[in-house]
Amino acid sequence: MLSEVIATRYVTPLREGGSLPGIVEADDLGTYVMKFTGAGQGRKTLVAEVICGRLAQRLGLRVPRLVQMQLDPVIGLGEPDQEVQELLKASGGLNLGMDYLPGSIGFDPLAYQVDPVEAGRVVWFDALINNVDRSWRNPNMLVWHGDLWLIDHGATMIWHHNWPTAAAAAAKPYNASDHVLAPVGPDIAAAAAALAPLVTEELLTEVAADVPDEWLVDEPGFDSTDALRRAYVEALLPRAATIHERISLEAEVKAPAGPPGWLTDHLPEWPHKTHKKKSDSE
Ligand SMILES: Nc1ncnc2c1ncn2[C@@H]1O[C@H](COP(=O)(O)OP(=O)(O)OP(=O)(O)O)[C@@H](O)[C@H]1O
Ligand SMILES: [Mg+2]
Repeated sequence: MLSEVIATRYVTPLREGGSLPGIVEADDLGTYVMKFTGAGQGRKTLVAEVICGRLAQRLGLRVPRLVQMQLDPVIGLGEPDQEVQELLKASGGLNLGMDYLPGSIGFDPLAYQVDPVEAGRVVWFDALINNVDRSWRNPNMLVWHGDLWLIDHGATMIWHHNWPTAAAAAAKPYNASDHVLAPVGPDIAAAAAALAPLVTEELLTEVAADVPDEWLVDEPGFDSTDALRRAYVEALLPRAATIHERISLEAEVKAPAGPPGWLTDHLPEWPHKTHKKKSDSE
């Protein structure tokens, strides 16, 4: 179980984040980035943050410490921004907190070198959780005290949005050609050899147990929160064993598509059929 803290002061919103996370202080005197249950992305984003964040930590990848944060929306009453007010009002109860890394900067591939071994571990892990949100446009990595830290695992495990098709979705390959670390030449084989054996049923069960019940209740098709936790284990376990064989790092070369139909449909066929002159047939 994640340790629990109580939010005591809303400091400021992090406007770069689409879900409008905020910097929040807590009763343990810690400062956290808080991700809200009331955000439009929904509580599954928080489930993904916990499962993937805890899994990464257990595999030795750097992810800021996660906590569950109790929020009394009253702490937002003095907040002048209407959007923030509404988010806090909609998020009473348990939310997710993540240690705030003060002075960290967003990862920039031109300014920070990652060696192929570390890159391989990150790409392999992202393939396992099917993370589509670590591209050069949006790297979702921070550099802090000279080290690389992974953040933002909300857009992962696409299969948990449609459980009846989860097994088939989790068996699919991972296209890493857009991954921010693809150009580094990630050593996927070394990462798989080191990390895949660590992803055991026991480890996944422990990681799934860290998700608060409140974010799992009433999922259609599941009798209990433990049955739902089990579904996460069953999706990730087989994927860990074989995903390294299905990671593509090359951009797909697509055949040129030709002009769109709306442009060409009304045009006569090209080359135009030559009409015989009347005089020819005579
Ligand atoms: N633990 C942290 N310490 C310091 N800064 C952080 C931390 N977590 C997030 N940030 C900052 O806040 C921004 C938004 O965080 P994050 O990407 O997790 O939010 P999001 O709403 O999920 O974003 P996205 O728009 O990528 O979906 C990050 O790009 C980073 O600048
Ligand atoms: Mg982000």
